[in-house]
Amino acid sequence: GQLEKGGYPHFMLKEIYEQPKTIIDCTRGRISADGSSVTLSGVMANKERFLNANRIIFVACGTSWHASLIGERLIEEMCRIPVEVEYASEFRYRNPVINKGDIVIAVSQSGETADTLAAVELAKERGAFIFGICNQVGSSIARATDSGTYIHVGPEIGVASTKAFTGQVTVMAMIALTLAHEKGTVTPEYFSEVIRGLQRLPELIERVLESDGRISELSKIFTYSRNFLYLGRGYNYPVALEGALKLKEISYIHAEGYPAAEMKHGPIALIDSEMPVVAIATADNIYDKTVSNIQTVKARGGKIIAVVTEGDTVVRAIADHCIEVPPIIECLTPILVSVPLQLLAYHIAVNKDRNVDQPRNLAKSVTVE
Ligand code: G6P
Repeated sequence: GQLEKGGYPHFMLKEIYEQPKTIIDCTRGRISADGSSVTLSGVMANKERFLNANRIIFVACGTSWHASLIGERLIEEMCRIPVEVEYASEFRYRNPVINKGDIVIAVSQSGETADTLAAVELAKERGAFIFGICNQVGSSIARATDSGTYIHVGPEIGVASTKAFTGQVTVMAMIALTLAHEKGTVTPEYFSEVIRGLQRLPELIERVLESDGRISELSKIFTYSRNFLYLGRGYNYPVALEGALKLKEISYIHAEGYPAAEMKHGPIALIDSEMPVVAIATADNIYDKTVSNIQTVKARGGKIIAVVTEGDTVVRAIADHCIEVPPIIECLTPILVSVPLQLLAYHIAVNKDRNVDQPRNLAKSVTVE
């Protein structure tokens, strides 16, 4: 009913707007007020195991799998532990190599996804230590794991996941920080900057949400596009995948996410004036390379919607449309960048009069294998 939607026309929009608050709920009691420490009890209770881990394997499906790709980048960068990310449905059926000393992290909003649960059971049989990142307290996956961290973002009703995604990434950043601190694999300056970034996220997401009106206007230009390409690199390659997934799920427009530099090995053949390209080009260590990827798209007549850092002038001069996000340490950019992409997908779907909260053929939790 209207009441549960808190005045928003759809649960999805409500959940997008809730993100400043859900990030607070997710970090509450876990980051000390003075920003000097992060404490995740599930990680600390198994500290030795984590510190001695040979490898971490994420298993997940859908949006949770995209969040896991960001987790891979966070943990490898900060903790220097090798990480792999597996679709639960692939992992469980191919006799995976699981060694003693491996940690399997199962990521699931609902905690009920059948393939992810089965992957957990398999890894458990093979003697791995299983850690869960779930939202639903007491869910099947949460119960089947040895330990874990809840994301605490509240019930997510919209089938297309939004606040759970940003909560999952936030938890992964806190896991990486906890381990990096213990292992001494990041400098104190880096550690503090990530914590400060996490503390500022709610306020910065609020700032991103102020672009909603502009994104809604922008969406009207693309309501009748048949295909979309989303490009990103590094931390934002998974965000490109997630942005494309959001659009597919709720607008039924075909969309593909691709690593920006890999575009020249195939997707570039598709680019013409009918092909909008959403390019993530925040200020990071490969910004210049991303700019040249965008120039390549431009030269072939593609329409460019760029997500850039506030104050950007270089991409602004090339792109057809720009959406700005505030500056933040690179490893946390995925959380800010995902918000305008959620809104873009949402508005395009609304323009097309789609059933945003319950898209055809999709289910909130997939309990079939
Ligand atoms: C379904 C939902 C997706 C979700 C995926 C994994 O496909 O529609 O939004 O990302 O399942 O769900 P989980 O609950 O395991 O995160």
